[in-house]
Amino acid sequence: MCSYLRSKLTFFSAAILFTTSCSAPPPKPLSARPVGKPVSIPIPLGLPPLPVPANNPPTAETIALGEKLFFSTSLSVDNTIACASCHDPGKGFSDGQPVSTGVGGKKGNRSAPTVLNAAYAQFQFWDGRVDSLEAQAKGPIANPIEMAHTLEGAAKKVALDDGLRKMFEAGFGTNLQGQSAVTIERIAAAIASFERTLLRGNSPFDRYQYGGDQKAMSAAAMRGLAVFRDAKKGNCAVCHTIEEKFALFTDDKFHNLGSGMNAAGELTDMGRFAISKREGDQGAFRTPTLRNIAETAPYMHDGSLKTLKEVVDFYVGGGNANPHLDKEIKSLDHLTKQERADLVAFMEALTGEPAK
Ligand code: HEC
Ligand code: HEC
Repeated sequence: MCSYLRSKLTFFSAAILFTTSCSAPPPKPLSARPVGKPVSIPIPLGLPPLPVPANNPPTAETIALGEKLFFSTSLSVDNTIACASCHDPGKGFSDGQPVSTGVGGKKGNRSAPTVLNAAYAQFQFWDGRVDSLEAQAKGPIANPIEMAHTLEGAAKKVALDDGLRKMFEAGFGTNLQGQSAVTIERIAAAIASFERTLLRGNSPFDRYQYGGDQKAMSAAAMRGLAVFRDAKKGNCAVCHTIEEKFALFTDDKFHNLGSGMNAAGELTDMGRFAISKREGDQGAFRTPTLRNIAETAPYMHDGSLKTLKEVVDFYVGGGNANPHLDKEIKSLDHLTKQERADLVAFMEALTGEPAK
């Protein structure tokens, strides 16, 4: 009898099991810690230092693997959908649709947010239901209306690809203890490391605000910035924050604007409430970043607003009245036509680029 079983059994049960065959102890799950040399990801002007989890330092190998996986359809059950299908680099890493379409044409009820600068977010998803990119990456793979696979099934399928399997060995080591180099934890870790490289800054706004270039923004955008920050005018920066040395344009908190109400004036998506169960979180969503916002129409968690002008008009109207409306959302009737157009010009000046 093997020592693994012996240590676990009393004399009596051991006697019964004695004749049954002895199975090996379950192997220790392979570590998802990269083995290569950690690299420091270059940060464009206007962004703060990048938070990186201690157990997943990005390496050249895991970033390259994560990029391959992000664009690979093999994570989906029928090889039709990649992460990039809904987070398309040509569309600001979103998909240009009000709501996304997954495997078999299935539609969800939320709009794909950009993954640009998602590395800075404390919470992922509109309702903040997970708190790391690693945890997030597993969500769509097993979501029946997105990639519709199982986590184990996806890992098994990826392992059939020799090229990819070698990249897992390069990224996470060759000490496999008889197991497959491809595990779901490693898939998630590699994708998260690739996503940490998807940073955008150095926009006209950043060059103006943080780079000392007074000519980087148009006059309209400069006026728009003033309206955006002024608590008595746009009051936008109270949630879409601008700090002294950087700007993420999000407070990483949840607010109810009344967006996504039906004709009867009812909230159709409970948002953060489904996670926190706190009364005040009904219809509250995480403040999205506004970086590269001109590239990611349509807007809001349900893609209900088609243009930035429509968004400004929505705020001018004070959102949609409901019992949980955020106290910072009030009618902005007093903004002149010029000021409303300037807000749009300002948001258009937030389209940036990766670090050079
Ligand atoms: C079928 C479309 C679709 C696919 C495929 C898809 N996503 Fe998403 N993604 C979405 C939608 C929709 C949301 C928002 C869902 C929500 O908030 O409930 C989202 C949210 C996210 C977020 C959170 C961003 C934020 O600001 O909250 C990240 C990061 C992300 N996806 C990365 C990925 C990765 C990595 C993959 C591949 C493993 C992937 N997505 C596959 C549609 C998709
Ligand atoms: C009380 C906090 C708060 C204030 C004030 C606020 N926002 Fe927002 N903003 C949000 C939240 C939360 C969302 C997402 C709401 C949703 O999806 O239902 C959002 C969404 C947006 C979007 C769409 C982003 C996307 O990716 O779909 C734009 C654009 C925007 N806001 C611009 C502005 C402007 C301009 C102002 C000022 C006139 C402003 N916001 C004021 C919290 C706020």
